[in-house]
Amino acid sequence: ELTGAIELPPLWALGYQQARWSYIPDDRVREVADEFRSRSIPCDVIWVDIDYMDGFRIFTFDEETFPDPSGLNDYLHSIDIKSVWILDPGVKVDPGYFVYDEGLEGEHFLLNPDGSVFVNGSWPGDSAWPDYTVPETRAWWGSYVPDFLDNGIDGIWIDLNEPSIVFPPGIAFPDDLLHRGGGVLPADTHARYHNVYGMLMAQATHEAMKAARPDRRPFLLSRSNYIGGQRYSAMWTGDNSADWDHLYWSVTMTLNMGLSGQPFAGPDIGGFFKPPSPSLYAHWIGVGALFPFSRTHTVSFSPDQEPWSFGPRVENISRTAIERRYRLLPYLYTLFHQASIDGLPVWRPVFFADPADPKLRAEDHAFLMGDDVLVEPLLTEADPHDFALPSGIWRELTLVDEDLTETPELPVMKIRGGAIVPLGRVVQSTAEALLEPLTLLVSLDAEGNAEGVLYEDAGEGYGYQEGDYLLTTYAAAQDGDVVEVTVVSEEGDRERPDR
Ligand code: NOJ
Repeated sequence: ELTGAIELPPLWALGYQQARWSYIPDDRVREVADEFRSRSIPCDVIWVDIDYMDGFRIFTFDEETFPDPSGLNDYLHSIDIKSVWILDPGVKVDPGYFVYDEGLEGEHFLLNPDGSVFVNGSWPGDSAWPDYTVPETRAWWGSYVPDFLDNGIDGIWIDLNEPSIVFPPGIAFPDDLLHRGGGVLPADTHARYHNVYGMLMAQATHEAMKAARPDRRPFLLSRSNYIGGQRYSAMWTGDNSADWDHLYWSVTMTLNMGLSGQPFAGPDIGGFFKPPSPSLYAHWIGVGALFPFSRTHTVSFSPDQEPWSFGPRVENISRTAIERRYRLLPYLYTLFHQASIDGLPVWRPVFFADPADPKLRAEDHAFLMGDDVLVEPLLTEADPHDFALPSGIWRELTLVDEDLTETPELPVMKIRGGAIVPLGRVVQSTAEALLEPLTLLVSLDAEGNAEGVLYEDAGEGYGYQEGDYLLTTYAAAQDGDVVEVTVVSEEGDRERPDR
């Protein structure tokens, strides 16, 4: 309650997402999108990294490689794929470049102790940095967002906002830089504001996205954030590498982020640095497709890292993993709705199933999605982990045509006895009707009862805040060899589909 909860994301942001640094030129973005469709691997989003810019000048597009961003986005939208484009905070020091000129004129940049503009090396070379502690600077930053989004851009990715210096690497912003502050934030040095810089950038971007498109829910991803920043942005776990340890840490980090109030998180699937082995990618996508935020991403000039890049076997594993996610989306969306109301994590440590059971406290390989789905991923190359699992009835779950004896890379998933989990059908993107048909997966408890919740709405926009949603609680009861499923409570004014 002190730090706030996430806003309900657009449904598409819960789909599977594909990135690399960078798909370039624009035709390569089209090609990758087409490849998902021709191989029938579900995908909702393709990401566009820094090389789309003209000389890494933010809010510009390179005329040769990305001459028509709107045309590119129209094409992606025609095959039901959204796009997310990156923005960095560093503004190229380049007289004549509008963002630099206007930033200087409006006194929007972070200052050295002597009052001169602080300059350091980011992708475009010498760069000046917005002082997001100043309300007018947040508004100024946001003033570029509407035109940027007008290119048909669906979501924004903000990076390097720790804030981080690219050249030379390994040094931090000096503590004595001056932030001007404003509103509730007093003028003070960078020592005070270092850790909230990223969150303030996220706030500025989120607010601008919302103002620019009041009928769409902003989807924003940030590398840096802070307690409370979940109100503005999802997070990923930064530049990991293709190591087994990092696969394991991607689970523990995401669980800890959820416990810290940030449920919308996930890693670069497959690892950012270094190419993953086919086996590592297969294990990573197996669990990766279940992360609250699910995106493959890799560093520049690395070998291809798409689900089909590791041969037919790993492609099939990836497809199955991602199809599992899409079947689970109604359940996942219901969990995000819950997170947006009470802050409960989407991924939960297994001790949530029984806080009184001490043996569950140290378990950090297995995890829960909500209360009802237990996941037992394989996160080590050798020496299988000995899972500490909650007691009670947990039944193995089959979501699509999967045979885990053939594909041990895919995690075992279980449903709690006493739960009803809503499932959709396998679609290629969330633009298709997920709930046609709706499946209710009923797992009875020892007394022959079960209960579960489904949240549904338009998947986009704010109609849900005016009542255009349905929150349905289903119950199941066994009577002899018949199980009767009924609606026991409902909330919201959305028309109930005829199912
Ligand atoms: C660093 C980010 O962490 C990474 O994800 C991104 O690809 C590069 N910057 C380039 O923008």
